[in-house]
Amino acid sequence: GRVAVLLGGDSAEREVSLRSGTAVLNALQRCGIETIAFDPSERQITDLIDENIDRAVIMLHGRGGEDGSMQGALQQLKIAYSGSGVLGSALAMDKIHSKQIWESLGLPTAKYQIADKTSFEAGSCSAIMKKLGNKVMVKPAREGSSIGMAKVTCAKQLETAVQDAFHYDDQVLLEQFIDGQEYTVALLNGKALPSIRMSTPHTFYDYAAKYQDNTTEYFCPSGLAAEEEVRLAELSTRAFHALSGSGWGRVDVMRDEATGTFFLLESNTVPGMTEKSLVPKAAAAAGIDFDALSVAILTTSMP
Ligand code: DAL
Ligand code: MG
Repeated sequence: GRVAVLLGGDSAEREVSLRSGTAVLNALQRCGIETIAFDPSERQITDLIDENIDRAVIMLHGRGGEDGSMQGALQQLKIAYSGSGVLGSALAMDKIHSKQIWESLGLPTAKYQIADKTSFEAGSCSAIMKKLGNKVMVKPAREGSSIGMAKVTCAKQLETAVQDAFHYDDQVLLEQFIDGQEYTVALLNGKALPSIRMSTPHTFYDYAAKYQDNTTEYFCPSGLAAEEEVRLAELSTRAFHALSGSGWGRVDVMRDEATGTFFLLESNTVPGMTEKSLVPKAAAAAGIDFDALSVAILTTSMP
């Protein structure tokens, strides 16, 4: 039957989703699969019934598409969909709940504090800096592509960054910055693909470093010793499943350069599929080209 690629949506990551969705749509069509584009910000999701669709590939990033709400709606419409279910999507969208679950299972993740819009006091910033160290990442709990994020080094910057992040979410994660290299592990059907190391001249791997300029360097193979690569793959797989992830996804990790310890940052249940994105690079390194990867993602919608 026909496949709908869901793309666009109305989250802050709309532009990224249009790029991911268009790339996957073109790939599926090249493979001879009858595919339509469907943008839930332009049409009602119930229109899918009249489109005679029997499965959906979700290429929506951020809230409304990656957070379980779309997954629930499709379930109600009895349309099979790619990737994680309602719970897995909701948990991975929320960086605070993700860390709480990992912590409870003894999986390594950096120290953090929660800032809540209704109770946050600017006066607490100095104490937070003291507790988390001299470099702190400020992250809206439920955003993607580094939108609303900042890296701060003093209480004054922390206060400004938290107020900015409150424009994106009522809950903000304040996380110790781990000095070291950033890695990512793509997961496809329960298997970890080769890790990628990202190196950016920006103060962190921000939106511009991800999508806009060409200054980021990607290393795949990442250069980890074989035994560390295995350890990272196992950690990422456990972290993904701990949040009830399924089908495909990507786990982001920092490696502390002083100790070699890996710290989990977050799990993504609809990672980017743009021409600059990471999962296609990892798949290519494993001999899976973009078309085959797109078909594999579609296949995750099948029981
Ligand atoms: N949130 C973006 C799309 C990613 O994880 O790749
Ligand atoms: Mg993310």
